[in-house]
Amino acid sequence: MTEFKRLTTTTGSPVHDNQNSQTAGQRGPVLLQDFHLIEKLAHFNRERIPERVVHAKGAGAHGVFEVTHDVHHLTKAKFLSEVGKKTPVFIRFSTVAGERGSADTDRDPRGTAIKFYTEDGNYDIVGNNTPVFFIRDPLKFPDFIHTQKRNPQTNLKDPQAIWDFWSLSPEALHQITTLFSNRGTPKGYRHMHMFGSHTFQWISEDGQTVWVKYHFKSEQGIANMRSDEARHMASVDPDFATRDLFEAIDRGQFPAWRLFVQIMPLEDAHSYRFDPFDVTKVWSQKDYPLIPVGRLVLNRNPENYFAEVEQSAFSPANIVPGIGFSPDKMLQGRLFAYADAHRYRVGTNHNALPINQPQSPVHHYQRDGAMRFDGNGGSAINYEPNSANGPKEDGDAKLGNYEVSGAWGSYAYPDDDHYTQAGDLFRLLPPNEQDDLIDNVVNAMRPVTRDVQLRQVEHFKKADIDYGRRVAQGLGLVVEN
Ligand code: HEM
Repeated sequence: MTEFKRLTTTTGSPVHDNQNSQTAGQRGPVLLQDFHLIEKLAHFNRERIPERVVHAKGAGAHGVFEVTHDVHHLTKAKFLSEVGKKTPVFIRFSTVAGERGSADTDRDPRGTAIKFYTEDGNYDIVGNNTPVFFIRDPLKFPDFIHTQKRNPQTNLKDPQAIWDFWSLSPEALHQITTLFSNRGTPKGYRHMHMFGSHTFQWISEDGQTVWVKYHFKSEQGIANMRSDEARHMASVDPDFATRDLFEAIDRGQFPAWRLFVQIMPLEDAHSYRFDPFDVTKVWSQKDYPLIPVGRLVLNRNPENYFAEVEQSAFSPANIVPGIGFSPDKMLQGRLFAYADAHRYRVGTNHNALPINQPQSPVHHYQRDGAMRFDGNGGSAINYEPNSANGPKEDGDAKLGNYEVSGAWGSYAYPDDDHYTQAGDLFRLLPPNEQDDLIDNVVNAMRPVTRDVQLRQVEHFKKADIDYGRRVAQGLGLVVEN
């Protein structure tokens, strides 16, 4: 016999009727004294938290990361300390521009946010399925995202705004070329690579530092949709990627990625042929080959979407000893933006929620705040320094050093070669994928005014004359060579 479980209010009081509201008489109005009804309706009104301002639509999964190759001479990060070491992870995949109910197959980069629950606290790699980004200064991020979202008057997606901004921000060209290739419509989350995109720092036990970039290569291989397939899927199964991930894990087909890193000696950053911290560019793998590190496997679906996926909060500022930041301006902007977003979206105590809570000891002097649902530090002292042997700083967690010099200022990046890598990418595509890229760009730019089309075509031409000519031809533009 199954055990009888009594229905209660949230304060544990038994509910005597969950089918009929209390009324004054058989046909009379509903009574204010029906606190169960009122609690139910009032709680329902508060079920939604604000969706993420970007990356609102997503899917998550739990898994494990295992070190397969020795990198302990490069970083003292404990979760990378020895071959065979395993660390639990939680990952959230997402699209960027769409709302929480938008289609999974929209043309967009895919977010790949990974939380490693290490013994030294949480380490988050909050990246994308592309190694580069559209812009390289955080000051431009809100403007950029405004163009990706809806027009303030019509509430419609606005190609004019998108291409107006891009044609005036040529640094976007490399990422535009990736986005309008078939990689902009991956066949679900399992069939794409993941990148940390920015440059980070690794710090070794003896204080040596190197620059590092992360590449997670899908063991499932790359599979993309062509744009007609992606559009069709958006109408027949808008949750395609979410379903694909959940069902694969459910049937025991666990998706996996191999982690590789590119390592750049600290001093090379001064002499490399471009600013290696510019997130619109990749480092050549001939210069800095991929070094294998480990394997990440997703093997468990969330039990509850809201508790685990919606409330998850990732931040590039969540690091552990052995990892540091680079002067990449975008990264520096993001170090502020994420925790600020979490305080607004989830609340100031978001890191105490089970999905965000580190699986290592947490000791700090932060107290109180809305929804402080743990013991709030109990009777422990709440200031530091103190003579009560409270938690103290650990110098070992210090970030790695790098030199900075010069006067403060609003400096532009010294180089404006937005074209070489975008052109290389175009030339690397097989002919049929070049055709798809051109078609996708032309279709996206059709609704845009001529002046913007002409300005953007000039950028394509600078990347590769054939690229520019073919887009111009598709748009029926007459352009000079
Ligand atoms: C989500 C800001 C650039 C990847 C977010 C969120 C904000 C934000 C506010 C929502 C966070 C939340 O509510 O939990 C910014 C700013 C950027 C920037 C200000 C530039 C200055 C980037 C770049 C990448 C990236 C370059 C990838 C390389 C992501 C991902 C998420 C996200 C994956 C979703 C995290 C999740 O699944 O919860 N971003 N972002 N962002 N961002 Fe960025």
